[in-house]
Amino acid sequence: MCGFIGYTGAACALDTILDGLSKLEYRGYDVSGLSLLLDGQIETLQGERLPSLTERAALQPQLRQSLCGIGGTRWAPPHGANWESCGVPHATSRLALVHSGILENSRELRELLEGKGYTFQSKSDCEVAAKLLDSLYAGDPVKALAQADSMLEGSYALAVLFVDQPETLYGIGKSSPLAIGLGEGESFLVSDCSALLGHTQKYYALEDGEIACLSPHQVQVLDSEGHLRSKECKTACKDLWKIQKGEYDHFMLKEICEQTSVLTHTLRPRIYKGLPSFEMDALPEDFFTRYTQIHVIACGTAMHAGTLGKDFIETLAHLPVTVSLASEFRFREPVIPKGTLVLAISQSGETTDTLAALSVAKSQGVDTLAMVNVPGSTMAWQADYVLYTHAGPEISVASTKAFMVQVGVLYLVAIEFARAHGRMDDAQARDTLQSLLEAIGSIGQVLNQKELIRQQAKEIAPVESIFYIGRGLDWPMMMEGSLKLKEVTYIHSEAYAAGEFKHGAISLVAPGMPVVALATQQKLIPQMLDNIREISARGGRVLTLCRRSAAIDDEMSKHAILLPDLDDLFMPIPAAVALQLLAYYTAVAKGRDVDTPRNLTKAVTE
Ligand code: M6R
Repeated sequence: MCGFIGYTGAACALDTILDGLSKLEYRGYDVSGLSLLLDGQIETLQGERLPSLTERAALQPQLRQSLCGIGGTRWAPPHGANWESCGVPHATSRLALVHSGILENSRELRELLEGKGYTFQSKSDCEVAAKLLDSLYAGDPVKALAQADSMLEGSYALAVLFVDQPETLYGIGKSSPLAIGLGEGESFLVSDCSALLGHTQKYYALEDGEIACLSPHQVQVLDSEGHLRSKECKTACKDLWKIQKGEYDHFMLKEICEQTSVLTHTLRPRIYKGLPSFEMDALPEDFFTRYTQIHVIACGTAMHAGTLGKDFIETLAHLPVTVSLASEFRFREPVIPKGTLVLAISQSGETTDTLAALSVAKSQGVDTLAMVNVPGSTMAWQADYVLYTHAGPEISVASTKAFMVQVGVLYLVAIEFARAHGRMDDAQARDTLQSLLEAIGSIGQVLNQKELIRQQAKEIAPVESIFYIGRGLDWPMMMEGSLKLKEVTYIHSEAYAAGEFKHGAISLVAPGMPVVALATQQKLIPQMLDNIREISARGGRVLTLCRRSAAIDDEMSKHAILLPDLDDLFMPIPAAVALQLLAYYTAVAKGRDVDTPRNLTKAVTE
């Protein structure tokens, strides 16, 4: 995660940028920096956290003369890299650039630029974007930006200073927010409107490919040919949360709807030539061949992701995987054989139980890998290795998109273990990865069924207690669906392996008893249909979520949500989205405090 602000006007650019960065710190605060145009030169200053940058700036009072500059802030650099080499902005002799978002083809571009004689000091996307632009710049910033935009893949926004363009800022973006703040005799270029708070509420939101050209008294938005575009001036809301929530009523819904893009951001940079690649994570070359088994430790939703991951790794790589609740593991004396990789999964990277379990594992001398969403979190630093999931800040207490990216990275990890252990050749790995990308592409089909899911949710809202059942991969998926429902609706909900239901719990089924059944696993559909019929025969009310091709009868289809048809292994992706929406709309129907349910906190740190 990263954010930036650019300023040009009559005020001190340094102060304005430092103020803007303080408002962007929630987008990352481990590395910050700024570049200022001063006396026909670009002065760049980098620091770790913002206070250290501010202290460094105070030692150079001449910087306060500058009236035009850019600054950025970002999460920690990847393991093994120092912050200087990942610093923002990145400057060449002719320009300085800050960016937000992720470049998906940075490796290909790096190779291209190396072929042209450029050398790189870091692995950062920012350096690649800066050097690409430098290579294209021949005195016309608009032309160079348009060309760069046609070569960059991913979702990003850039803000740029050119040494020979005094007092002027340039920017461009693709699938990533970029806005121009309109002040009196000053203007701003920001990756996030929250940086404008206290300066101006008036702004233009840039669309993909539009080029911003800002000087103190003139703001122009141009197309790639350099033609002026007319823009509608918008007024930002003073309430930061409302700005960030955009068109959505709740963060939970926003985060559910972001899942295609966060999965793409997380996975695309880890796919190279159609195969998994963990180069950006600085894992040792032999990492995936080193281990003979894996032990996952996690809590709550992260543990459910780990349980799905167990299935992916065992199915694809045939490596045994154990999953432990971190809250139990930490108080046991677990036997962890040599050759085990302990994998801690956590959105926050701060969950006390998972941290304590990680420390137990470390005390046994085995290698540890953290899969975390919050870079710079304690877990990321304590584990030997780290894989960041790039879901961005997850505001809603109920985890949705963070779960999805954990699942996404676990698929990649499983494929890579399978390759490394000779269970898959490259062609098979490419096909499997392609199926994963298709599964990600199917999320939209589930989101399009929001209205149907909302109707089903209204029927669940009045109940006091409910069962969630599934078999195979659908069982851990239902553990997650059930947790989601109970935490945001306060309805008592229990997840059961469907085959186990008749060994006891079925005695609770009386007329009207609600049950949600997930039937996505092709080979287990006959058994699931039997379960559904048994429950219906006793008067239970079953809502069935199943793959579109499942042969359900007319009666069942009256209460069914149909999911896209994918390989069994990838059905958790659309199923998760449907279950999240079901929980969300049930909570809304009950008038619950969706984003901040009672008694819960985002990170359980006690
Ligand atoms: O930050 P973590 O992933 O370590 O958090 C673990 C659980 O507390 C978390 O997943 C919790 O279950 C969620 N609120 C569920 O939506």
